[in-house]
Amino acid sequence: MTDRQVRAEERRTAEPPPTSFSEEYFDRRYARDPDPWGLARRWYERRKYAITLASLPRERYRACFEPGCSIGELTRLLAPRCDRLLAVDFAEDAVRQARAAVRDFDHVEVRRSTLPAQLPNGPFDLVVVSEILYYLSRDDLDLMLDGLVDRLEAGGDLVAVHWCGNGPPRRYNGHDVHPVIEAREELERLVHHSDEQFVLDVFRRKGTA
Ligand SMILES: C[S@@+](CC[C@H](N)C(=O)[O-])C[C@H]1O[C@@H](n2cnc3c(N)ncnc32)[C@H](O)[C@@H]1O
Repeated sequence: MTDRQVRAEERRTAEPPPTSFSEEYFDRRYARDPDPWGLARRWYERRKYAITLASLPRERYRACFEPGCSIGELTRLLAPRCDRLLAVDFAEDAVRQARAAVRDFDHVEVRRSTLPAQLPNGPFDLVVVSEILYYLSRDDLDLMLDGLVDRLEAGGDLVAVHWCGNGPPRRYNGHDVHPVIEAREELERLVHHSDEQFVLDVFRRKGTA
């Protein structure tokens, strides 16, 4: 999406964007500010990360996938809980910063990928989706969820956490996206947290590992 399309989108009511936000849109944001959302400095983010980590049902996971990792702040915090962790983002500058953030962890890989087209091979026993799903069109959201659920092993956990504010990128927010995940019949919800800032859900893939 261009900046103009984004502004037009913001005036609309809560609907998914007609096309997914583009790599160029995020590249421009990183060019203006290397940490566009203040992931490394805002209390909102620190609190969100603390609640996300505290909500993980298991102490350790074998293989974690983190789509839309941005500059690797959450990646760095997830690393000690996982034997292997793959984090991806399509913005080149984000990937460069994320690699630097996790340089002390040999078991963490940061890859440049466009989602949902370049979802990695699974299986994973943990998927952490933080503040990316509302940038996807309805079709891409469906493809993304199909791909994530396919790659999540039976008994594995999918954690989703999204902002619920009423500003940029637009009114469409976590309250719109999480019910789409909840509707997946392969998943059962274990945890639900909702406050004035964000919504967090932990889902488990049905079946036994
Ligand atoms: C708000 S930031 C994510 C913040 C991060 N997950 C956290 O909570 O710390 C959104 C990130 O998703 C990435 N992104 C958005 N759409 C994407 C897509 N289709 N494929 C890959 N990365 C994408 C952007 O480049 C950006 O770095």
